[in-house]
Amino acid sequence: MTIKAVVFDAYGTLYDVQSVADVTEDAFPGYGDIITQIWRIKQLEYSWLRTLMRRYQDFSVATRDSLAYTLRSLGLQYDDATFARIIDKYQHLALYPDAVAALEAMKDRKLAILSNGSPDMLNALVRNSGLDRLLDATISVDAHKVFKPAPEAYTLIEEVLKVAPAEVLFISSNPWDACGAKAFGLNVAWIERVTPEAMALACVESETVAPLTMFKALRTQMDELGVAPDHRIHGLSELPALVSAKS
Ligand code: LAC
Repeated sequence: MTIKAVVFDAYGTLYDVQSVADVTEDAFPGYGDIITQIWRIKQLEYSWLRTLMRRYQDFSVATRDSLAYTLRSLGLQYDDATFARIIDKYQHLALYPDAVAALEAMKDRKLAILSNGSPDMLNALVRNSGLDRLLDATISVDAHKVFKPAPEAYTLIEEVLKVAPAEVLFISSNPWDACGAKAFGLNVAWIERVTPEAMALACVESETVAPLTMFKALRTQMDELGVAPDHRIHGLSELPALVSAKS
């Protein structure tokens, strides 16, 4: 089946969520890494819990609430200005260096984002990074008021792009998202940015496990969820050849 659309997860896949570390470290010297890691883990946890609780609020709420949890759990005092400065970074996350070239090489297909991000979060991020000139659509799960990996989130791809799941290649670096997309019925390429070998080395080399290493162990290794992605790649730059080979 020809791939007519390549659809990307945003946070962690096109944009590096670790890039908030310069703002968190600047605001709380010495705590930047642990804030960055706990924040991302709780942000996703809140999206899953709110979906299961049927108490959806958009991703900007989960992002703010998880940051508040993180600072409180670390006993860090903050004022509104500091909090707002950290939250604002989510509209200016770093693009992965190979993102623009990869999208440009595939512009003969429909290119889109499907993300948990709220419409406001995503539109600002896509505009600030210049990806708005390369994307045919930026799709927020907010239209269906559930978060990925709920199947109802992935139905938005066909609804917006008018392409069948079999004609879509979905890209995510988040294992849980790759599994959710596969379970839904999409073709899936998972970006394995941290290999098991690198993971093992990071754990062995240091006596204590740094927060980033713990994050990598929790959120970058393929999950055991009864499904597996169709493709494992190590970066966005491998996508144009993969898409051409599938079509
Ligand atoms: C996204 C994050 C949650 O949906 O990976 O963009």
